[in-house]
Amino acid sequence: MRLLTTAVAALALTVGAQVATAAPIELKFSHVVAENTPKGQMANKFRDLVAERLAGKVEVKVFPSSQLFGDGKVLQAMLLGDVQMAAPSLSKFQKYTKKLQVFDLPFLFKDMAAVERFQNSSSGQKLLKSLEKKGLVGLGYLHNGMKQLSANDPLRVPADAKSKKFRIMTSDVLQAQFEAVDAVPLKKPFSEVFTLLQTKAIDGQENTWSNIYSKKFFEVQPYITESNHGVLDYLVVTSAEFWLTLDDDVRTELKKALDEAIAHGNKIAAEKADSDKAAIANSGRSEVLTLSDAERQQWVDAMKPVWKQFEDQVGADLIKAAEASNK
Ligand code: LMR
Repeated sequence: MRLLTTAVAALALTVGAQVATAAPIELKFSHVVAENTPKGQMANKFRDLVAERLAGKVEVKVFPSSQLFGDGKVLQAMLLGDVQMAAPSLSKFQKYTKKLQVFDLPFLFKDMAAVERFQNSSSGQKLLKSLEKKGLVGLGYLHNGMKQLSANDPLRVPADAKSKKFRIMTSDVLQAQFEAVDAVPLKKPFSEVFTLLQTKAIDGQENTWSNIYSKKFFEVQPYITESNHGVLDYLVVTSAEFWLTLDDDVRTELKKALDEAIAHGNKIAAEKADSDKAAIANSGRSEVLTLSDAERQQWVDAMKPVWKQFEDQVGADLIKAAEASNK
């Protein structure tokens, strides 16, 4: 009897030890924006859903505001296994694919509904796979919204931007877009934008209402032109090495949670485009300028030739498909 008890105790110890060593898979989600943004809220929702549904199997840790990795490093870090998920803006993938540059072409999408239609189309869905050769897996698009121009001086027509320094994301299309109005674009990480604006090292930048609001750019930029000249959306990515080695049931559950979190983030994006714009307009810190049709047309005429410059890299068919989403 004593022997049996000892054997049971030993077995319990072994099993206990095994359970203790089966730690949950750690999934680090790194992003650069504040938590009160579409992406911040999406990432937190994903973390919470995973905690509910995959407790003990996967633990998501979210690192906002460039705490873990900034713009330039995150994809490289992902390929090294130092971070498992991120959602960089579509403008930050040009080292990995030229195809996603389609999203940066100025005045291509008339509104977010057109962006949504294109992302859901077969061309848009094919683009999710455009990073596969580089070891990255596109898991889905997430919205932020249309970009606006902010500056130290009022920007009503392209001539107002001449010789002014604008911070841009790491995108050659965005560089060409500002060069098309004789401005001086500077590629800088998101984490540096506020200080660059505050110290007047640069004159302006382009971004969505939610980023301008949550990172307080409106407090150091007296004018914001409601230009809606381009889109800032995201691609949620992971590495093939991480994703494909997960158990099938875990991967399926993670994808389901992610899709729900993205739907949640998209809803917030739509709400914030209005509420953050209103908060900025009511802040008394920054004046929101509305363009007349004739003024807006001048920006279109100046910037649209950029499409042609990138037609070979992006593909004429893809540009056409994107344009068709305007209906
Ligand atoms: C930017 O760099 O301006 C944006 O891509 C930041 C973000 O992730 O929304």
